[in-house]
Amino acid sequence: MSEVKVKIKDLSVIYDNGDGVRNIDLDIYESEILTLLGPSGCGKSTILRAIGGFNKLTGGEIIIDGEDISQLPPEKRPTSMVFQSYNLWPHMTVYENLAFGLKLRKISSKEIESEINKVLKLLKMEGFEDKYPAQLSGGQQQRIAIGRSVLLKPAVLLLDEPFSALDAKIRHQMREELKRIQSELNISVVFVTHDQEEAISISHRIVVMDKGKIAQVGTPTEIYEEPVNPYVASFIGEMNFIDEGDKFLAFRPEEVEIVTNDSGEYPATIEHIMLYGHYSQVLLRGRHNMIRAFVPKTNMVDIEEHMKVSFNVTKIREYEKEI
Ligand SMILES: Nc1ncnc2c1ncn2[C@@H]1O[C@H](COP(=O)(O)OP(=O)(O)OP(=O)(O)O)[C@@H](O)[C@H]1O
Ligand SMILES: [Mg+2]
Repeated sequence: MSEVKVKIKDLSVIYDNGDGVRNIDLDIYESEILTLLGPSGCGKSTILRAIGGFNKLTGGEIIIDGEDISQLPPEKRPTSMVFQSYNLWPHMTVYENLAFGLKLRKISSKEIESEINKVLKLLKMEGFEDKYPAQLSGGQQQRIAIGRSVLLKPAVLLLDEPFSALDAKIRHQMREELKRIQSELNISVVFVTHDQEEAISISHRIVVMDKGKIAQVGTPTEIYEEPVNPYVASFIGEMNFIDEGDKFLAFRPEEVEIVTNDSGEYPATIEHIMLYGHYSQVLLRGRHNMIRAFVPKTNMVDIEEHMKVSFNVTKIREYEKEI
């Protein structure tokens, strides 16, 4: 197990109106991408800004590399933050944007130049030095913004939905890029998103948040396979639920096996079949509700709409109902 880089202990940040986050305990490890995931308003940015020093703590502490940094202003913390947009200074060239923070640190211009060259290489953006932000695409701007942050050699890089303003294709590329940059620099990254697919594809671990609290912390596989409650189960990926009175049974569409006779555990009727290339999505009318199944193309031959079938479930999760 890696070293703990950031220790968040009993953190609360409560705004004047009573919103915020409460009693957050969280360890962030050396060289991991940890993602804060949850719907709008659940407190992701509040935690990130607290780590970066942009939010006053109501209670608790934040320890980085063994030092309590809770009372330090942002510029004195070993952190650097990239926001969703408006990250670069528009009147400065790429080079000037990258050099700015290093100049403040009184680093010689020769060293600045060599550091910037290294980072432009890392970002695969050599040759862009003299361009202004308006002459770059959104993805290129965010890459430079990440470069400017990593040049400061922070202990922890903080990214608040940095790709959400980009279109889908560029967003996918940027995820790959970030993973590559993170592993080359071996840096700890705290990443914020409300996009579960983004979280699963990018993270070593995910923190699922629910209304200012942590619902579950785990690897993407743990969260996907063993969600701790129906909230996490329905937020990550697709999940079917069967209401059994005092409990819910939960299973994923790929865990449904359709049987073309009545020998399966649950009776159903095929309501709708939609082809998606290598698999099909099948909607089944079950006893109580609709069930979604993903069926590989090779298993599609025997079923058609309106057919009476049954199904088995290869993996089932049970959740007691809260009273
Ligand atoms: N400066 C503020 N003053 C008062 N309330 C705030 C402030 N900032 C955030 N909040 C409230 O605190 C809660 C958490 O907000 P936060 O910005 O952390 O959510 P988020 O998870 O980042 O959401 P989003 O996905 O929309 O960015 C919300 O209810 C929000 O309205
Ligand atoms: Mg936010």
